[in-house]
Amino acid sequence: MMQLFLDSTRDRSMSDQLYDQLAEAIASGRLVPGTRLMPTRAVAADLGVSRSTVTGAYMRLVAEGYVEGRRGGGSIVLDTRAGDDPHWTSTALRATPLAAAIGRYESGLSSARYDLTAGRVDHRLFPLAEWKRSMNRALTSLADRLGRYGDPAGDGEVRAALAHWVARSRAVAARPEQIVITRGAAHAIDLVARTLLSPGDVAAVEEPGYPPVIALLRLAGADVVGVPVDRNGIVVDAIPENARLVYVTPSHQYPLGAVLSRERRHALLRWARRRDAGIIEDDYDSEFRYSSRPLEPLQRLDGDGRVVYVGTFSKVLSPALRLGFAVLPIGLVPAVTAVRRAVDFVPPAATAAAMGSFIESGALDRHLRRARREYATRYRMLRAALSEAPIGLLTALPSDAGLHITAMTPDAPSDEILMERALERGLQLSLLHRTYQFSEPQPGVVLGFGAIAGDDIPPAIHRLVECLRG
Ligand SMILES: Cc1ncc(COP(=O)(O)O)c(C=O)c1O
Repeated sequence: MMQLFLDSTRDRSMSDQLYDQLAEAIASGRLVPGTRLMPTRAVAADLGVSRSTVTGAYMRLVAEGYVEGRRGGGSIVLDTRAGDDPHWTSTALRATPLAAAIGRYESGLSSARYDLTAGRVDHRLFPLAEWKRSMNRALTSLADRLGRYGDPAGDGEVRAALAHWVARSRAVAARPEQIVITRGAAHAIDLVARTLLSPGDVAAVEEPGYPPVIALLRLAGADVVGVPVDRNGIVVDAIPENARLVYVTPSHQYPLGAVLSRERRHALLRWARRRDAGIIEDDYDSEFRYSSRPLEPLQRLDGDGRVVYVGTFSKVLSPALRLGFAVLPIGLVPAVTAVRRAVDFVPPAATAAAMGSFIESGALDRHLRRARREYATRYRMLRAALSEAPIGLLTALPSDAGLHITAMTPDAPSDEILMERALERGLQLSLLHRTYQFSEPQPGVVLGFGAIAGDDIPPAIHRLVECLRG
């Protein structure tokens, strides 16, 4: 193990100093991929610091993708190098404070025995043969267009297929001309934010909420304000009067799971009309719905064209495809497509055309029937396992859609200790605290069931309870 130096007279905490040195050693290649970090106990004894100081640093390295926890304990260095250039770590350049402040949100690859990370889908469900056929058809149909960029909003036929699909699956009222095909939901939100916000404008987001959107709003120059959510979704009365844009997840609040009530939907639209503000409706996971009927999307209730509806194929099929779309008020289409042209010209034509063909051929419906059955089974198993957990230790919040259930853990040990115990038990978790950016984080876990096999859910929750008990 490399030599570590801690200086108790510095402003930076011991845990942060440890993290800095290990992250730098990994990034520079001094700690090569595959290296096993020394156990936290040994490092703590070596340096004369508490074990939680070391686990804090290790936990951050795991969260930021430098290291992964292995079954049976042990933290292994991952390959984070950017390329083959030996000089890649040295630079005279500095990222802006805004760019440097963006934390890594993805928790890297997991080889943990029980992966309860949020934001994953099951790659075993991916309909590879059907997708290959769609991709083949797409490339053949595109052959004579491969020499040019194409339409910045996306191919007309694909937009028509998407318009039918959202009308059918989500009751979104969309004409093909209102659709802009994007590289996922985040990209759609980015384009809309760049179009609607000037530097210094106030943008409101849900708190707790989805951190990547906060990062991109800040990069667009917005002053981002967190608005609390309760069991009916965003608290409309708490939205700042001067907000220009409000980002919400009405079908299934991320991460707490609430559905924005009918009354709140109308109140939010009234608020936006009064303040002349825009609304982004991120409908990222409601293809998977387990009990109640969905409420009408804001986009459909909107009478004066101030709602942008955003959809993605990240949950439906795969986050690796990078495919999503925005349904825009028709008057906003020219401005958003102009911004789009400046940012990345056009959508990836082959992937978009493959999706069009995948929808039209009925393959998406077939895939969804199968995926819904599988995820519904896992959802029920997770609910059942959580209902058997000791009361007060692990309390599941209501949630009847998507691929995660959030549970509160009021008596949990510190995040560092919880992650350490989870690592020891081969469990990979997403902690709720990362979704709080503006207020005191509540202790909890966002339990994703996209990646874990159904049979693994009861033992995983059993292990989680052990971690919480100590
Ligand atoms: C709230 C929310 N929005 C959007 C997404 C998906 O984003 P993208 O389409 O950019 O992959 C996720 C993924 O986990 C999410 O949690």
